[in-house]
Amino acid sequence: MTGTCVLSAAEFARAAMLLRGGEVVALPTETVYGLAADARNPEAVARVFQVKERPTFDPLITHLPDAGWIGRMARTPERVRGLVGRLAEAFWPGPFTLVLPKSDEVPGIVTAGLPHVALRVSAHPDFGRVLGAVGGPLAAPSANRFGRISPTSARDVLDELGGRIPAVLDGGECGHGIESTIVRPEADGRLTLLRPGPVTVDELSAFGRVVPGEPVMESRPGVPGQMASHYAPESPLVLVRAEDAAVLGGVGRALLAWDERAVALAGPAFSHVEVLAAGGDERLAAARVFRVLRELDGGGFDLVVATRAPASGLGLAINDRLGRAAGRFRKSAADPAVGP
Ligand code: TXA
Ligand code: MG
Repeated sequence: MTGTCVLSAAEFARAAMLLRGGEVVALPTETVYGLAADARNPEAVARVFQVKERPTFDPLITHLPDAGWIGRMARTPERVRGLVGRLAEAFWPGPFTLVLPKSDEVPGIVTAGLPHVALRVSAHPDFGRVLGAVGGPLAAPSANRFGRISPTSARDVLDELGGRIPAVLDGGECGHGIESTIVRPEADGRLTLLRPGPVTVDELSAFGRVVPGEPVMESRPGVPGQMASHYAPESPLVLVRAEDAAVLGGVGRALLAWDERAVALAGPAFSHVEVLAAGGDERLAAARVFRVLRELDGGGFDLVVATRAPASGLGLAINDRLGRAAGRFRKSAADPAVGP
């Protein structure tokens, strides 16, 4: 394949035609861009793994046209059926993913052979139109190469996968900017949080006790989605408390400060300063975090020093993503304050 075609949102029928033909197409969602394939076509799904260079033991999220599809794609145990219904009602369509026992309609390659399937209904209108035209579920992980920063614009997708996929549907910048919250409802009513995201622990708490999950696949070494080094950028990055940032300043080093207070604490010793959450605005920070990481990555800095978000609300998900970006360099960092 030589070129990747950028389709306007109005060309959704063409994207759907490619998908129905077993091709992969990058599509906008409200969180990040996804690399979609017909979830019920194992060969198309295999292409997703191949294009992303993603190991086939890391399962994909299946995107449903609507919550009515849960019954076909999952075998929801009787005792969590009510809870699943309430969660779907509250958070779908939206940046929320439910992990449930899979049905036989889901090919094994989608769930990497696991007995569970991750399901989501996206709120993005362009994604919805494509789903409607395809007429069935789409498997779609984030549209980045393995281990790299998730894309939040069609331009980012071209940087990641240009020349490897036939088309990307351009739906503009993603609203949330970080990937969906992933939850596994348990038989006793608890909610295991497998990945923090735009739907916060506070919001989830109204539906059951939220318990931190062992990161999704930690028991299987090397699974990228939950490896400490996921989202690793090219420039070394460390994540520290604002109080500890000043000693890491220097020429050729960039500061990715949470807010203005962090800039004041870190001092003037950095060559470049970027504020993630101007005025402490968490939503703005989430929407910008991958974009800013991508830009800093291309800036040729010797070191990027990121300061932590507050450990509440969206800050949890943002610290999670920054921590993973830092993870790749943690082993070599002598400072005990480095890393999540
Ligand atoms: O917002 C999102 O969730 C985006 C958009 C495109 O929908 N998708 C996304 O997919 O972030 P991906 O593949 O980059 O991350 C999905 C994560 C991975 O860490 C994977 O291991 C986990 O979900 N996952 C998928 N299926 C699972 C399952 N059956 N059990 C546990 N974890 C699962
Ligand atoms: Mg991903």
